[in-house]
Amino acid sequence: MKANARLHFAHLPTPIEELPRLTEALSGPRILIKRDDQTGLAFGGNKTRKLEFLVAEAREQGAKTLISAGAIQSNHCRQTVAAAARFGFDCTLVLTGEKPKQASANFLLDQLFGAEIITVADRKDRDRILQETFDNAVAAGRKPYLVPYGGSSPTGSLGYIFAMEEFMNQNMKVDWIVFGTSSGGTHAGLVLGQRMFAFKGKVLGISIDEPEEKLKSHVSELASQASEKLGERINFTRDDVLANEDYCQAGYGVFGAGEREAIHLFANKEGLLLDPVYTGRAAAGMIDLIRKGFFTKDETVLFWHTGGQPALFADKYSNSLL
Ligand SMILES: Cc1ncc(COP(=O)(O)O)c(C=O)c1O
Repeated sequence: MKANARLHFAHLPTPIEELPRLTEALSGPRILIKRDDQTGLAFGGNKTRKLEFLVAEAREQGAKTLISAGAIQSNHCRQTVAAAARFGFDCTLVLTGEKPKQASANFLLDQLFGAEIITVADRKDRDRILQETFDNAVAAGRKPYLVPYGGSSPTGSLGYIFAMEEFMNQNMKVDWIVFGTSSGGTHAGLVLGQRMFAFKGKVLGISIDEPEEKLKSHVSELASQASEKLGERINFTRDDVLANEDYCQAGYGVFGAGEREAIHLFANKEGLLLDPVYTGRAAAGMIDLIRKGFFTKDETVLFWHTGGQPALFADKYSNSLL
């Protein structure tokens, strides 16, 4: 296997825990959780694993500034600017949405970590402004490295290939891995890791904001590209990717009854925190699938927690949590 540059700052391996009280409350299958909300780096989350490779690549290229983009309450951006601070890069974030009057949650943390922030009111202008920001940084000699949306390039996906290896080494018998999927890097890494490390169960992404067909084609292509980074291309097809689009109809970041119930159940039954946008929605999907009998009682389902909890404290969500 070809080696790729990697920095080691994630707290690994993340633990796997049993959720017996949640299983009981749902009369469901055995449920486990993999705690990637505990990966370290600014409250943890799935981006830590991707950033180990992305920041290493930025360093190799001689970059001085990390540039990335996302929503105002982006977890990815919060972790990117924390990594920038830790490894001595400047960081510019292009954030979409109305600039909050008072900074809270991820948007507050972005500033604490020293991000230069450019807000874009309308999402349709985001790609253009991100490109202009990048071009201006090049012109000013700031040596930028573009961290893609969600860290989901082939390089970023490497983090989740090795997460699958880590999981296999934890020796748990699991039939399903369930998690939230959006920009696809986590999903692509897990699918490629599944092939490489012979995980026999199924890897099911609950879509946060994308149609199933789009995820299948994007994730299979990203997994194929990521395999090239390891030395030999493996061609994945749409059929290699399992995705469920049933829980994202309300739109990105729209907090509804399903997310609220999932957050309450995990909190009340297991003392665990989910986030309102990603893991809350993914868990709502898993809970609904359990109730519908999608998993059999003798199966084991592992919920892969991808982090995001700081967003709980954004006014937009905290006001409607209870
Ligand atoms: C907490 C959390 N979970 C899941 C995801 C989705 O991961 P990916 O973008 O790799 O699909 C994100 C993306 O930002 C996230 O912040």
